[in-house]
Amino acid sequence: MVWKRVTFGGLIVVCLITYVRCAINYIVGAGIADITGPAAEVDMMGYANPGQTARGIHFRQYSRAFIIGDSDNKTRVVFISVDTGMVSQLIKLEVISRLKAVYGDLYTERNVVISGIHTHSGPGGFHQYLLFDITSLGFVKESYSTFVAGVVQSVKNAHESVQPGNIYMNEGELLDSNINRSPTAYANNPGEERAKYVHNVDKNMTVLKFVDRNGNGIGMISWFAVHCTSMNNTNRLISGDNKGYASQLFEREMNKGTLPGQGKFVAAFAQSNEGDVSPNTKGPHCLDTGLPCDNPTSTCNGKNEMCVAFGPGKDMTDSTRIIGLNQYNKAMELYKSASKLITGPVDFKHTYVDMTNVEIQLNSTTKVKTCKPAMGYSFAAGTTDGPGMFNFVQGSKSENLFWDLVRDFLATPTDAQRSCHAPKPILLDTGEIKNPYQWQPYIVDVQLLRVGSMFLVAVPGEFSTMSGRRLRNAVSKVLTSGGVSSTPVIAGLSNDYADYITTFEEYQIQRYEGASTIYGPHTLRAYIQNFELLAEAMIKGTKVAPGPNPPNLLNKQLSFLPPVIFDLPPAGKQFGSVVQAPDSSYNVGDIVTVKFVSGNPRNSVEQANFTSFLTVEKQTPSSWEVMLTDADWDTLFEWHHTSFILGESEVTITWNITATVTSGNYRITHHGHHKSIGGTITPYKGTTTTFKVGPAIDVNTELKKLLANTNLIG
Ligand SMILES: *[C@@H]1O[C@H](CO)[C@@H](O)[C@H](O)[C@H]1NC(C)=O
Ligand SMILES: *[C@@H]1O[C@H](CO)[C@@H](O)[C@H](O)[C@H]1NC(C)=O
Ligand SMILES: *[C@@H]1O[C@H](CO)[C@@H](O)[C@H](O)[C@H]1NC(C)=O
Ligand SMILES: *[C@@H]1O[C@H](CO)[C@@H](O)[C@H](O)[C@H]1NC(C)=O
Ligand SMILES: *[C@@H]1O[C@H](CO)[C@@H](O)[C@H](O)[C@H]1NC(C)=O
Ligand SMILES: *[C@@H]1O[C@H](CO)[C@@H](O)[C@H](O)[C@H]1NC(C)=O
Repeated sequence: MVWKRVTFGGLIVVCLITYVRCAINYIVGAGIADITGPAAEVDMMGYANPGQTARGIHFRQYSRAFIIGDSDNKTRVVFISVDTGMVSQLIKLEVISRLKAVYGDLYTERNVVISGIHTHSGPGGFHQYLLFDITSLGFVKESYSTFVAGVVQSVKNAHESVQPGNIYMNEGELLDSNINRSPTAYANNPGEERAKYVHNVDKNMTVLKFVDRNGNGIGMISWFAVHCTSMNNTNRLISGDNKGYASQLFEREMNKGTLPGQGKFVAAFAQSNEGDVSPNTKGPHCLDTGLPCDNPTSTCNGKNEMCVAFGPGKDMTDSTRIIGLNQYNKAMELYKSASKLITGPVDFKHTYVDMTNVEIQLNSTTKVKTCKPAMGYSFAAGTTDGPGMFNFVQGSKSENLFWDLVRDFLATPTDAQRSCHAPKPILLDTGEIKNPYQWQPYIVDVQLLRVGSMFLVAVPGEFSTMSGRRLRNAVSKVLTSGGVSSTPVIAGLSNDYADYITTFEEYQIQRYEGASTIYGPHTLRAYIQNFELLAEAMIKGTKVAPGPNPPNLLNKQLSFLPPVIFDLPPAGKQFGSVVQAPDSSYNVGDIVTVKFVSGNPRNSVEQANFTSFLTVEKQTPSSWEVMLTDADWDTLFEWHHTSFILGESEVTITWNITATVTSGNYRITHHGHHKSIGGTITPYKGTTTTFKVGPAIDVNTELKKLLANTNLIG
């Protein structure tokens, strides 16, 4: 008989461990916070499409934090999944520094992993390395500050909720939700290696289920490799894409009756080795002819910008919904049936690695090295998820002031750099320029977390499918040698962003992912070698050297995004005046469209207690209850200037009345802030007239009733 004693906060739980339900193995906490940045004028991070600036909100972005500690309350690890394109080094440095200010050494760069879901529909400008901020016209402080504040707040919320609990794990296959977007590169991997796998992308989803001491659910994390590029590069509304939507569905189900982001249960749909993995399951087709593209080159009649991947839905929103729903359904199934109780130590290993200078002994005679960063030509061609929008990089004229300024710093690559990256033809020699500040990272985080038999490999970039498999296998082999059996999970786009990582063989093909493997052909080997060291240290219980400190370039950042100058309402109107009123009544299935005179949504960033640009409210006997916000899937918030010169703008709010909406009296309120010529920011709001929402008319039922009556009369 084994007895276990857990002490936490004066509470002593004594259990007979054979009764699994009674045994408490960990302390767990989960927290969520809003990170939505500027909802206007800032370029979206992901497609590098300089015209794709934000114009409103599809739904909000959140940070979801999970704290796991051993039951003795000695060691903690933190995993944070954020609805963003990726995490930047600057974000991690600042988040950790703020956490240290509050919690001392409890949460540090070593035991906290921050991972981006990789939505391509969030505002950019939060990076410290120049290349990643080109399309956003440099650094955007508004994006950076909301991101940092939201992540820190999610950890605080998780910290406040820490309690004794348990964690279950489950794994299963999700089909029809991802495809390989560079199959010709994948096919260059050795045949015997490919033969070990049924698919050319990973289909497995891994789920962790967090419960309190009574077995009640408090959180869920799922990992599944698929790009959040269901919304394409024409989308102008901030969105969490397919994974953000899956989180919303899960949290809505678990937190019945609460608004998005307000419930206690936190559900993260985190990213994994999605480097070459697309959600557009109908595959690449030519925009003009509708026929499949030329496969190896991803072109249509020689033009890459015509070749775009679609599906599975009828448009991008529908595709987002389907890929999100698929991930939600699979995660819920795995969550409900999770029965593998996790037990064992909580541990973490972390080091900073200078990735430009890693030596790898390939065999007894050959030693190779990584290179300083450089981007290949195919980088400019983009991918079939978002083709060729970086073409402006090569052109002589651009409308990007930031690019015009920095382009002249680009140098011709040295011979050593050329041969290091071969066969990659170098387009941007980002590693050999330091002006006006560093263009791509040298030093990145390499980090491993452990919770019992669960190992999380946190990688600072986008691993291709096969790269991820090789990394998992290598770590697993080290663990096995130490007597631990585990299939590690890759947490993609974690901590810093160092672009893509392909296998050596995929690199030879130089598609977008290979062209964006920035430390040269041996990048993957270099990562594997470093993760093996961490795994070994974890097994042996030895210390890992901290490595070289990354730079903090915050006060070097240049910004070319003009600020909001001022807002004015048109003559005879006020901010919040209704420009288009609702009809007097609607039915389920209808769309309500209303318009208001507005200020620039950027004014509302960082305003205390500002939570939504809109509320859909239902009349109660005594007042009004908020039913929906701009964080909901069924509402859209869109903004545009009606006169840029006069500072006049307007917002359009639409509400799709779905079947779950109950009949009653409703109204819509728009909340915002306007900026005076003197720079003062003032809140305002405007509310529509009341309108009725009735039940859907079911034509069949009505017809039957009518016929029944007719018969009676007849
Ligand atoms: C657990 O440990 C943390 C950090 O050392 C400490 O702040 C907290 O008070 C401890 N909690 C309990 C309940 O012992
Ligand atoms: C996927 O999950 C199943 C079920 O746990 C497992 O048997 C299989 O090995 C996994 N496949 C991969 C590629 O990890
Ligand atoms: C984006 O999706 C829309 C449908 O929602 C489609 O009309 C458009 O052609 C797509 N554009 C690109 C570049 O993928
Ligand atoms: C070592 O690896 C290099 C590069 O792959 C190869 O050319 C060489 O033949 C290998 N040498 C031995 C002894 O395996
Ligand atoms: C924000 O909300 C908090 C808590 O409700 C309140 O104490 C604070 O005064 C509010 N701040 C502003 C600027 O309204
Ligand atoms: C409104 O919601 C319904 C149910 O989710 C959906 O089928 C429909 O396509 C939506 N309409 C629009 C215009 O988004």
